Amino acid sequence: MTKTKSPQIRRIALLTGGGDAPGLNGVIESIVRSAKTSQIEVLGILDGFEGVFEKRTLLLTENEIWGQHTRAGTLLGTSNKSFIQGREKEFVANLKSFGVEGLVAAGGDGTFASLSRIANEVPLLGVPKTIDNDLAGTDVTFGYDTACGVVADSIDALRATAEAHRRVIVVETMGRTTGWIVLGGGLASYADAILMPERPFSRAKLKSFLLEKKNAGRRGLVLAVAEGAAAENETVQVAFRVEGSPQKDRYGGVAQALSRWIEEVVGWESRHVVLGHLQRSSPPTTTDRFLTLTMGVEITRMLQQKIWQQAVVYRNGIVTRAPIQDLMQAARLVPREHHWIENARMLDIFV
Ligand code: F6P
Repeated sequence: MTKTKSPQIRRIALLTGGGDAPGLNGVIESIVRSAKTSQIEVLGILDGFEGVFEKRTLLLTENEIWGQHTRAGTLLGTSNKSFIQGREKEFVANLKSFGVEGLVAAGGDGTFASLSRIANEVPLLGVPKTIDNDLAGTDVTFGYDTACGVVADSIDALRATAEAHRRVIVVETMGRTTGWIVLGGGLASYADAILMPERPFSRAKLKSFLLEKKNAGRRGLVLAVAEGAAAENETVQVAFRVEGSPQKDRYGGVAQALSRWIEEVVGWESRHVVLGHLQRSSPPTTTDRFLTLTMGVEITRMLQQKIWQQAVVYRNGIVTRAPIQDLMQAARLVPREHHWIENARMLDIFV
């Protein structure tokens, strides 16, 4: 990056990459506000990596960021279709041309996998983000709590109509390869069943569970299923493909298929609801706001101390620092015998 004689960092670039997550605007507001008190200028890069390749930027002042922490989305824009592979030199050269001393990136697994390709050449700081909560290196990501809240509120609301009509409603959540959202949201709302990608379910066992509830006189049930979940020995349902995306397959359709199966095989009238991008669109919860505020301030502390190649992470109940490579590892799946699974079993939730 630009070599500066100044002992202080004066100008950095900031980008948001991958699928948006509630809290991104909070990170931006927190970094820009705290950086300003340290006389550090923040150049926003628009639409993730695309903004670097197309040289589209926005100097972030208080006018742009004031009060943004309450809004979902990201004021910088983002993309989960762009990656650096094969264009590393161009990426580094363009970044240099912005006159910045380093890059702060808020992203998920795709963003950090891409950045690992230029991590030896660019001063980097990382902020972990994804509603899926599956990023390695941190115990939790912001956006996750908000997404779980949407799932839990939806399940709680749907229970009324399920019981009114004596139906089973199957709710499909996001979560391509991991079940953190369906597990957290499903537990918080006492969903009757929680089906996750990490735990292929037995159709026979699910059928007995549903029949047992029906015979016991339960009027209605609400089941929660992650988009990436599948029955034993079956494959995940691909809804469509996004060419150019690091993970092309977009999953979907499992809730609809399951509700048809419940009607036909279990004999219980059933409907399905797909929550989709509502899970990314609610204003961040207080928990997510506090997390992003703290992470943003910690980023500025690292800038003050001229520390690079680190990430701000949440571990053992506190926001702390870790090597940025920690975010570049394989996805963090729900462990087979996680204590939340045991809690679900004790609540007679099918899991
Ligand atoms: O952010 C991750 C994620 O929410 C996945 O759970 C989901 O499958 C995917 O993004 C959807 O991506 P898109 O925005 O391309 O539809």
